[in-house]
Amino acid sequence: MQKALAYASEFNNRFVGELGEFLRIPSISTDEAYAHEVRRAADWLAQEFTRIGADTVTLHETGGHPIVLAEYRAGDELPTVLIYGHYDVQPPDPLDLWTTPPFEPTIRDGKLYARGSCDDKGQLFMHVKAVDAYLASGLPLPVNVVFVVEGEEESGSVHLRPFLEEHASDLDGDIVLISDTSMLGEGIPSVTYGLRGTTYVEVLLTGPNRDLHSGVYGGAVENPINVLARLIADLHDERHRVAIPGFYDDVRDLSDDERSEIRDLPFDADAWLRAVGVGAGRTEDGYTVLEATWARPALDVNGIWGGYQGRGAKTVLPAKAGAKISVRLVPDQQPDDVVALLKRHFEEHTPETTELTFRNLHGGHAVVVDREIPAMRAASDALEGVFGRKPAFIREGGTIPVVADFKQVLGLDTVLMGFGLNSDAIHSPNEHFGLDRFHQGIASSIRFLDAFGKRV
Ligand code: BES
Ligand code: MN
Ligand code: MN
Repeated sequence: MQKALAYASEFNNRFVGELGEFLRIPSISTDEAYAHEVRRAADWLAQEFTRIGADTVTLHETGGHPIVLAEYRAGDELPTVLIYGHYDVQPPDPLDLWTTPPFEPTIRDGKLYARGSCDDKGQLFMHVKAVDAYLASGLPLPVNVVFVVEGEEESGSVHLRPFLEEHASDLDGDIVLISDTSMLGEGIPSVTYGLRGTTYVEVLLTGPNRDLHSGVYGGAVENPINVLARLIADLHDERHRVAIPGFYDDVRDLSDDERSEIRDLPFDADAWLRAVGVGAGRTEDGYTVLEATWARPALDVNGIWGGYQGRGAKTVLPAKAGAKISVRLVPDQQPDDVVALLKRHFEEHTPETTELTFRNLHGGHAVVVDREIPAMRAASDALEGVFGRKPAFIREGGTIPVVADFKQVLGLDTVLMGFGLNSDAIHSPNEHFGLDRFHQGIASSIRFLDAFGKRV
């Protein structure tokens, strides 16, 4: 292992340069206009896997973007680690807020700026380079490694579950390792043992057959924006809870032990809020910021439109109004059940004067991983070896849909060993990744593979 660590230190600059090539490809999965770029990223990655010595590399076609599998066999008697990541990225908009263009990776102040630098090309690439470091320094891998890399995570991973079901026999590993999460704070190595799930729906209300003069018709014709605003306002009560009957029925309560563990973590909620320009939090009554974002559901309007959005005033009574709504879910809420509750809320409360169209866009289950499994110890030891301190065990509010699928389809637990920081601006302009963390991530991966190989 020492030779691999030394190799990774010696060639870190070269690794950063290679990551730069990957980041130049605008693999935006949600926008069909970029489909060929998404494929180019898959091809680039497949070639990289081959170049560093994979036994087999395959590009699997799906109804959407391809899934890349790469296998590095070390011995039948050794355990197998599946490493998951995603090579697709979020759209870079709004472009004018980027200091340097999103697909021209640039280093400033020890940080690599580019869309995908942290989420998730940079974090995925740490594992690619960990394997590279073993093989290039002449060491055998301490475990078998199978990479499963998809190109649709940012658009809901819709083709991944059927793929896992179909290829279950090629994917008989012992654990899944993912770096696509964050650290609790700078310099605090972290293992994430829980993630929230999501459902994402779109609501459209249609009123008159065209936009109308709001003086001629206002007061006599129902305004879809007014209706939508009321329907949305009714989704929360004064305790900041979701007001849909039955919404909390399946929510698993936090135990007193877990609450006190969370309270003991080194986390400054005020500073966390201040960093995004917010003076005071607004959590569900009775819950702290960490409890609310890690273990309580949340319903948010992500976008809303209708009527006149341009400069100045235009008097108009709009024909249509729409909203995109996400719900972050916790165990044991079922995405389909929550969609049904939302649908019923809108159906029952939409007046006859407007017509409702309700669409379910995507969803994923929340997960909590058992912290007693051997892989958690391997992750803890690996991170301690790199950072010189034991990791914090945290939950997070984001979603990685495949984690629940790995458990449900393949029976596999996942270790989430993430190196992002909230300040990395994922999904925002000027996304970046600290080069120190890129290097620490590679070293942690090298150590994890070693520790897991010895323990199982
Ligand atoms: N890597 C993130 C999820 C994440 C971010 C987990 C930060 C923990 C901390 C992932 O790429 C992502 O953005 N997921 C989407 C999923 C959705 C499209 C189904 C999300 O959470 O919005
Ligand atoms: Mn991600
Ligand atoms: Mn993301």
